[in-house]
Parts: sequence; C-alpha cells; structure tokens
Amino acid sequence: MEFEDVNSDIESVVLTKEQIAEGIARIAREIENNHTGHTPLLIGVLKGAVMVMADLARELHIPIEMDWMAVSSYGASTKSSGVVRIVKDLEISLEGRHVIIVEDIVDSGLTLSWLLENFESRQAASVSVATLLRKPDAMKVDVPIDYLGFDIPNDFVVGFGLDYAESYRNLSGVGVLKPAVYGG
Ligand code: IMP
Repeated sequence: MEFEDVNSDIESVVLTKEQIAEGIARIAREIENNHTGHTPLLIGVLKGAVMVMADLARELHIPIEMDWMAVSSYGASTKSSGVVRIVKDLEISLEGRHVIIVEDIVDSGLTLSWLLENFESRQAASVSVATLLRKPDAMKVDVPIDYLGFDIPNDFVVGFGLDYAESYRNLSGVGVLKPAVYGG
C-alpha cells in the first residue's frame, strides 16, 4: 500500500520506501562485517518487525537463522503501558548463539530493556540490537542500539510494519498519522 492509498490519514511522510531500503542495506553491510564465520540468529519482535526482518534477511549476504517472539506492548493505544508480557516465546535455543534482536522502532525502550534482561539468562554468546527507527525518548534510557536505521521525531508513526489498531502495517513507507484518526 502506498501513501496515495491512505492520503487523508497521513499528516506527513517520514520515510519513503526508497529511504527505508537504503537504511536496511546499510544495516545489512554492518551486520555482515561483524558476523563473518558464524551464523547469527535474528530474533524479530512480532508483529511490527515482520517487514524489517523480511527485507533485512534477504539483504544479508551471509547465512542467518530466524526466530520470533511476541510480547504485548501498546494494544490499541498510542502510549506505552510499560507492561511487557510474553505472548509467544522463542523456539530456538540462544545458548552459544550470536543473537541480533530486530526491532521496527524503539520508543521508550521499555520493550527492548525487558528483552535484553530476559535474554541475559539464556546464555547467548552475544546479543546485539538492530532497529529501523528510534524516537528521542529512547536516548533517555540505557538501551544499547548496535545497528540503527533512522532517528525520527517524537510523533506517532505508522507503516512498514507499524500499526495503529492493526491498520497501516502494509504501508510501504513510514508516515505520521493524523491525530484526528486516533481521536487526538
Ligand atoms: P517501546 O517499548 O516504548 O520502545 O515501544 C515498543 C513498541 O511500541 C514498538 O515495538 C511498537 O510496536 C510500538 N510503538 C512505539 N512507537 C510507535 C509508533 O509511533 N507507532 C506505532 N507503534 C509504535
């Protein structure tokens, strides 16, 4: 789905699909440089990271494995609840693996710090973080991001996996949702 398909719901374009592709390619080159000679395990956080994972995985010129985790986050609201709960756990063991957490966006950083703490006990050889987007609040808390696509302003955005009440995930770019759409 393109911006013109949802024109009246989007206030401004944050990233076009071409810019996103460039950002993902840049992240892929950095990951390749750091992971020669072993097969990293990419862990996507459902559902938002599906698009980033799909494009990043295909852009990488090294073998990888993938697993998925689902945690509860915002529900249908646009504000972080701070509550993290495992909805679907991993199927592959992290023991001895070089793990890369793949995120769509790091906002408050709550989800990420919780995940990093949770993974600490699972004996991974290393854990790093790749995120397509980062909001300013993430810099206030201690969330280490190893691979970053773009810093974006503190607006509620949708597209490229990011939703509002499960809609707009299939928008090919990222845009600011008009507050009127969510009653703001
Ligand atoms: P955090 O825990 O505050 O860093 O945010 C974690 C999750 O909140 C992300 O993985 C997204 O699912 C969701 N989220 C944060 N900001 C936005 C946004 O602007 N639009 C849509 N979802 C968002």
